[in-house]
Amino acid sequence: MTDQTITSVSREHRKFRPSAEFKAQANLGSDAAYKRLYAESVNSPEKFWGRQAKEFLSWRKPFKRVLDWKLPHAKWFGGGQLNVAENCLDRHLGTARENKAALIFEGEPGDVRTLTYKQLHREVCRFAAALARLGLVKGDRVAIYMPMVPEAVVAMLACARLGAVHTVIFGGFSSESIKDRVNDCKAKLIITADGGWRRGKIVELKANVDRAVVNTPSVEHVIVLRRTGQLVEMTEGRDRWWHEFVAGVPAEHAAKAFDSEHPLFILYTSGSTGKPKGVLHTTAGYLLGVTMTTKHVFDLKETDVYFCTADIGWVTGHSYVVYGPLANGATVFMYEGAPNHPEPDRFWEMIDRHGVTIFYTAPTAIRAFMRWGDDYVKRHSLKSLRLLGSVGEPINPEAWMWYHNLIGKKRCPIVDTWWQTETGAIMVSPLPGITPTKPGSCTRPYFGVVPVILDEKGVAVPKGSGGRLFLAKPWPSMLRTLWGDDDRFKKQYWTELEGYYFAGDGARFDEDGYLWVVGRIDDVLNVSGHRIGTAEVESALVSHPAVAEAATVGRPDALKGHALVCFVTLKNGSLASPELKEALRAHVAKEIGALARPDDVRFAAGLPKTRSGKIMRRILKEIAGGGDVKGDITTLEDFSVVAALQSEE
Ligand code: WT7
Repeated sequence: MTDQTITSVSREHRKFRPSAEFKAQANLGSDAAYKRLYAESVNSPEKFWGRQAKEFLSWRKPFKRVLDWKLPHAKWFGGGQLNVAENCLDRHLGTARENKAALIFEGEPGDVRTLTYKQLHREVCRFAAALARLGLVKGDRVAIYMPMVPEAVVAMLACARLGAVHTVIFGGFSSESIKDRVNDCKAKLIITADGGWRRGKIVELKANVDRAVVNTPSVEHVIVLRRTGQLVEMTEGRDRWWHEFVAGVPAEHAAKAFDSEHPLFILYTSGSTGKPKGVLHTTAGYLLGVTMTTKHVFDLKETDVYFCTADIGWVTGHSYVVYGPLANGATVFMYEGAPNHPEPDRFWEMIDRHGVTIFYTAPTAIRAFMRWGDDYVKRHSLKSLRLLGSVGEPINPEAWMWYHNLIGKKRCPIVDTWWQTETGAIMVSPLPGITPTKPGSCTRPYFGVVPVILDEKGVAVPKGSGGRLFLAKPWPSMLRTLWGDDDRFKKQYWTELEGYYFAGDGARFDEDGYLWVVGRIDDVLNVSGHRIGTAEVESALVSHPAVAEAATVGRPDALKGHALVCFVTLKNGSLASPELKEALRAHVAKEIGALARPDDVRFAAGLPKTRSGKIMRRILKEIAGGGDVKGDITTLEDFSVVAALQSEE
């Protein structure tokens, strides 16, 4: 193999400049300010981060050193002590924020609840005090398996207040997944609810916990929030109702200060194979990363109503529903249920009713909205919105333009934010009001972030060529290790190239130095010597008017290396036919070039996705190759999709 670069095939040239109005009020005023601070952040990182840590965080004990870097282990802000919950709550008390809404919650059935900073602080103190009475101490692990309700945030912040390490398990996961995660970190306590609402039905959370705890010897107690009200089994001595657990406990809790490097949470993230990795984040560096990026990337203002659609079970929910916004004293809008219940306009209806100003969601959701049709959007004004965000996967230019036109009404900047569970906070993103955007590019690095794109030999590739994405410098919110498996941590992230963090993504810089992430490196295919990001083929497919969503995988091919097999779902009103199949193959060839003409296009009713909306290409690969679906599919959202795909060929 001589050609080790990823053939760059995207032909996106549109560029959108920030409006003068937005620019005039932006938190980071000018491109010159960005460039000056960025230069300082990479040339004198200790000076830069030391100053930011003093400005953005409240310390109980000042730190003595900014960074101890013993590759691949970083210690940030050594000697310092602080409390994360205090930074998210207590420090806003006695200020104008005290009686400001911290959380505006809407349940799927339509129940609305608002908690001011003062009220949220009381609930967190009460719950922390009750947990302390139960015997929970610093360093204990606590699993949180809850719906998107305010008590989930209370539980996270109460753990942080006590120095207990939470691991939030997404409410869509099975009992098997709960068991694995709880056993891996040996959690003492599980906090859950009877159930949660999803598309008008109850998700049986407590029943799932009951099935898991049969095989989790570390668990001593289960605390159960009453949310849905259906009958659940309570095991005497082990299980306690949340409302009984806190009844009569005073809402007082003196927070202790913890070392900067005290563990804050473990979050399990699935690799493409093998058991989930327990990504460990610690106290000060993580909090600094999420606090600064929330302020800068979302241009957060005191008057914003901020809505991030991610579940707290994902890192986006940790960093940009809970810790980042609350540390900034923001008003967070939080929604429990599905975006299409009772109708596919639920989000737009809520945005108008609550006056949401910042909206942060994922490309997979945007494509679903597109599929449901523009009429659902057009029923609502969306005039309160001023900024839009995207995260989770490369956003195809088609979806970007739809988001820009239909949701942002051409008025709202879009921040396409590249980051990972492991990075803790946003690493690459436009700064609104400053960075001109291009549909599909996450543009330029945030402060302190040095992305480099290297070929297989570790040599930097020229602009316009693709390669593997690395980060060249440590950053405060970086993962510290994988829980209980430091060897895997080193192997996974730090051995590809000595001294560099390996992100696992394929990417390229364009002529303006903008970063284009094309997807996971294991989604990069070699077709006749060209390395092609599956995302680019998918992007071409969804630019065809008949296509709603597309996934491309490689089928081993003796001649080409990989043959391109594409799975597509169609928009309402489009019909599958052999003619359309040919038209789509020709369309991709026209958009990208003959080298990317799909060898096979298959129509599907649905694509197999994880519960966070990521297409499970591994499964499609197996189907494309004609084999059985093997390996772990417990993270699959809808099992029937796989059966349907298999029966179609
Ligand atoms: C992977 C990380 C970060 C929170 C949600 C996902 C992909 C994420 C983008 C983006 C292109 C993106 C990458 C990354 N990704 N954001 N804006 N553009 N790709 O967290 O589950 O840890 O996944 O998601 O492939 O490595 P995660």
